[in-house]
Amino acid sequence: MNGVTPWQEKYLANDTPWDKGEASPGLVDFLNSRPLAPGSVCVPGCGLGHDARAWAARGFQAVGVDFAPAAVEAAASRALAERNAARFSCADFLRDTPSMEFDWVFEHTCFCAIQPEQRADYVRAVDRSLKPGGRYLAVNYLIPDVQGPPFGTSREELLERFSGTFKLREEWMPRSYSNRTYLELMMLWEKRRA
Ligand SMILES: C[S@@+](CC[C@H](N)C(=O)[O-])C[C@H]1O[C@@H](n2cnc3c(N)ncnc32)[C@H](O)[C@@H]1O
Repeated sequence: MNGVTPWQEKYLANDTPWDKGEASPGLVDFLNSRPLAPGSVCVPGCGLGHDARAWAARGFQAVGVDFAPAAVEAAASRALAERNAARFSCADFLRDTPSMEFDWVFEHTCFCAIQPEQRADYVRAVDRSLKPGGRYLAVNYLIPDVQGPPFGTSREELLERFSGTFKLREEWMPRSYSNRTYLELMMLWEKRRA
């Protein structure tokens, strides 16, 4: 992936209104409230890396993936400055072979950032990034927008797209950034074993 995507340009221009300077509140609450076995996690479309750092701070081997080199460089610098063990990789999550099979994939504002016609590719990418029995934890953005990014989705679409490959374990409305309150739905899926 070259360095001239619209996303890369946004990061270079410091025009990143989606970035709230902190991890998703729903993820923070999840990590603080659950007894979780140590493991590995992939964070696709990780941006500046707040979510990946939150997983790493909780003891996970966290790898943030983004195809915008400026985001990956900034995320790696922040992790270094905070002595946080999260690692970052510049790759196309939809096309590139994952570096390993992970225990977890964590979604937050990547699914709504890609073109809707790429969503089947996204589901396949989550599938190949996970071990059998691995968990897909998603903060979904339930907005109606068809002009994006962000592109909206619905609970119905998510059930239809993910139910074939994954089994839904839990869903709940999380605590959110103030401008996304009541617009997010968290879902915890388990990859079906062959
Ligand atoms: C809306 S931003 C969200 C960033 C981060 N998750 C956050 O919440 O701050 C979407 C991110 O997805 C990245 N992205 C979009 N398509 C991607 C792809 N195919 N592979 C890897 N990263 C991608 C963009 O570069 C951008 O950093």
